[in-house]
Amino acid sequence: MSAPLDFTLSAGPVAASPRTLAALGEPITYHYDPDFLALFRRTQAKAAQVMQTTNDVLLMQGEAILGLEAGASALFTPGAHVLNLVQGVFGKGMGYWITGFGAILHEIEVPYNDAVDPSDVIAYLDANPQIEILTVVASETPSGTVCNIEAIGRACAERGVVTFVDVVSGVGGMPFNVDAWGLDVCVAGLQKCLGGPPGVSIVTVSPRAWERINANPDAPRDSYLSMLDWKIKWLENGAFPYTPSVSDMHGAESCLDQALEEGIDNMIQRHARAAEVARAGVLGLGLELWAKSDDVAAWCVTSVRLADNIDHVELRTLARARYGVMLSSGQGAGNLIRIGHMGPTARGMYPVVGVAAVGQAIRDLGGTVDLGAGHEQAMGVLARQMAL
Ligand SMILES: Cc1ncc(COP(=O)(O)O)c(C=O)c1O
Repeated sequence: MSAPLDFTLSAGPVAASPRTLAALGEPITYHYDPDFLALFRRTQAKAAQVMQTTNDVLLMQGEAILGLEAGASALFTPGAHVLNLVQGVFGKGMGYWITGFGAILHEIEVPYNDAVDPSDVIAYLDANPQIEILTVVASETPSGTVCNIEAIGRACAERGVVTFVDVVSGVGGMPFNVDAWGLDVCVAGLQKCLGGPPGVSIVTVSPRAWERINANPDAPRDSYLSMLDWKIKWLENGAFPYTPSVSDMHGAESCLDQALEEGIDNMIQRHARAAEVARAGVLGLGLELWAKSDDVAAWCVTSVRLADNIDHVELRTLARARYGVMLSSGQGAGNLIRIGHMGPTARGMYPVVGVAAVGQAIRDLGGTVDLGAGHEQAMGVLARQMAL
């Protein structure tokens, strides 16, 4: 017997709120209808508020990979020295783009359960003043780890190094402040902590980054990947480079509204509380957290190290089929299972359900867990949080 899907506790896309779902069902209009134009401009302004920036914001119609590839193709130039920080699969992937566009790759890489230390970055920048760009993933979703973007961003800003930041699963789930930290190009997604639909890249671009992109003769122009098209056609002349999905933009505005009504800091703290519940439950089960320490563990997803005899994909499949709980597997980071607590599921009983599903599914596969202690520990933390 196969269970229906009751809980999406994946690492994104995540379940959207009823309000977001209702917005996605708004009538589809012509994209130059004045109401849609107003909605698009409002949504852009709300995205800027969530990203805490006065920089330009582009809403590019495509999964966050579109925004990342657009940034890579605009920023990386042949012969430019780029320092790439790697603590997981998305960081590693950025390195392939750097060399692919002919730039010279420098890398600081740590094991995928750890985070790059800002002091190592500062030392590397000081020893290599030829570095022009630094690339970093704020929240490595497949590893469930975060990086200290504040320290790294400030160090780069002081040294005139352009920063290119993947904050796809970070925005709303960790402190992140584009302007205060002097970040140049940042790419976020709606489908993680913001609880919106997949399919839109939020891209913030500083004046310094525009200077570099304008000076790059090979930066895409008249292309789906083109940030310059968005600047020249849309921001400066009010014409879309291509047709945005009207439905997705309604969903985008709605989930950004909900984030702003809740307050970004409150939203981040909600993710931190959910992570605390999940981690306590995992440890109670007698399992090991994947992240090396609490300091480097993400608040939007809890990664759990699996014993060699438990396969992560088999575990994910079993939890979904038998218990109707959709988890995420390791996605290249290792033999780990991930309990997502992002967006609407970063609260209350959701992480407790995630812990229960992981525990029982491991037991079903022949592993050893203490289900009672897992429940007790997770609920103990939740009870304490709710009593405050
Ligand atoms: C850190 C990070 N970067 C980028 C992406 C975008 O990947 P995709 O467009 O395949 O969702 C994701 C999605 O999981 C991510 O977690």
